[in-house]
Amino acid sequence: MIDQLMNKTHDESRQGEAYAPFVRDPNEYRKRFYIESYGCQMNFADSEVVAAILNQEGYGATRELTEADLIFINTCSIREKAEQTVRKRLTEFRKLKESKKGMLVGVLGCMAERLKAQFLEEEKLVDIVVGPDAYRSLPALVSEAESGQKAVNVLLSRDETYADISPVRLDNNGVSAFVSIMRGCNNMCSFCVVPFTRGRERSRDASSIIRECRDLFENGYREVTLLGQNVDSYYYVDENGQETVTFARLMEAVASISPLLRVRFSTSHPKDITDEVLYTMARHENICKYIHLPVQSGSTRILQLMNRTYTREWYMAKVDRIREILPECGISSDIIAGFCTEEEKDHADTLAVMAYSRYDMSYMFIYSERPGTLAQRRYTDDIPEPVKKRRLQEIVELQNRLSLESNRADIGKTFTVLIEGDSKRSDQDWMGRNSQNKVIVFPKKAGSSLKAGDYADVRVHDCTQATLLGNLI
Ligand code: SAH
Ligand code: SF4
Ligand code: F3S
Repeated sequence: MIDQLMNKTHDESRQGEAYAPFVRDPNEYRKRFYIESYGCQMNFADSEVVAAILNQEGYGATRELTEADLIFINTCSIREKAEQTVRKRLTEFRKLKESKKGMLVGVLGCMAERLKAQFLEEEKLVDIVVGPDAYRSLPALVSEAESGQKAVNVLLSRDETYADISPVRLDNNGVSAFVSIMRGCNNMCSFCVVPFTRGRERSRDASSIIRECRDLFENGYREVTLLGQNVDSYYYVDENGQETVTFARLMEAVASISPLLRVRFSTSHPKDITDEVLYTMARHENICKYIHLPVQSGSTRILQLMNRTYTREWYMAKVDRIREILPECGISSDIIAGFCTEEEKDHADTLAVMAYSRYDMSYMFIYSERPGTLAQRRYTDDIPEPVKKRRLQEIVELQNRLSLESNRADIGKTFTVLIEGDSKRSDQDWMGRNSQNKVIVFPKKAGSSLKAGDYADVRVHDCTQATLLGNLI
């Protein structure tokens, strides 16, 4: 099946349009747009789709806000703070708009979807509001706005995946790229706004994904991250109903493009990651041994209120299974502190699951009630702010310890590192990642021809909590 799939896409890739990996010279275009993105990787990937749609209409991307005729802000609603950041940014745009006649401001993404036309009333300077499934209508909306109307499209779709659009790579290092494989989410975690802002889950045509990944590889990219809110529930059935592609099969097909192309993915819902996925990872050296497996809470009672559909024991058994099939696998997590009714013993359960799982890294948050979610309708956001903060602090401190322990355990080991570019601190050092997604910094060697996109074997001799330090061998 995979071979069939590969052949089919191979032919298609020859017929496809030329791939435009970089932002072209803005002077080629009649108008310029500036786009700023917030939120998850999917939002960043969407901005690249938006850039492609605008490019086709004769708009060129610019990195200079002051050069722009159109300013877009791709927004996130996941926590209240994320929305506040956007509002603040919009007031800065207002000043610019006052000084530049004809400049338009558009709000894209999840906050646009959540607030819809209400946005236009709340933020008078906003001219265009577009939800995540309506980006194809952007050029028409821009024209409407240019003629002085307020332009809104927040329709969600059951089938839009932007499968045929080759994203314009915006802030890219030319080495690693995100590839969106599905959209929306059918889970109903009670705290989460995503099902409301992104709509129903749908999987993108497998052959278009493989084609995009192959194009990236042929353009020098060496790493793709397959993106979805819940990648393990990827499931594509072709138009004839003949071929079905699971996430494991998709990953295998992408990994087969070249052993030099690394494959990553994000995010896995613990309930959906299967042995088939783990064995596929084990079979392919170039599928990175790293799983982001958000636990959210370590308390079964809280997990039930969150509607996560697993228990603490079930989650820990999943971690055991990963360690059994993939002994070298890195694991990271998302954790929420202070969800409704959380008691000290629930919090202690979270700390215990973290220690058990030995996370290499976690994203840690204070619970933020979101309008319209199940939790907001059913439960009271009853944990006082200082308690939430203290619990978060304890979670962060434990994670810092776990990260340092995990990094220390790597001292003396040798890893194959994909070089992404100069290290942040010095152009005398390279920065790259190992398969486990850990950042490794190591000195460049005089006379060496290594460059970004190359693989290097590096032995670790020291570490900080966030970084491994090594030397070329
Ligand atoms: N689809 C991914 C998560 C996407 S949102 C998954 O299921 O794992 C990223 C993270 O934001 C979540 O994992 C969760 O930890 C956090 N988050 C989501 N809603 C939140 C809220 N209302 N308050 C605080 N954190 C939240
Ligand atoms: Fe939100 Fe849950 Fe869907 Fe993740 S799986 S996007 S947390 S509803
Ligand atoms: Fe935020 Fe929307 Fe992503 S709410 S986290 S940008 S899906």
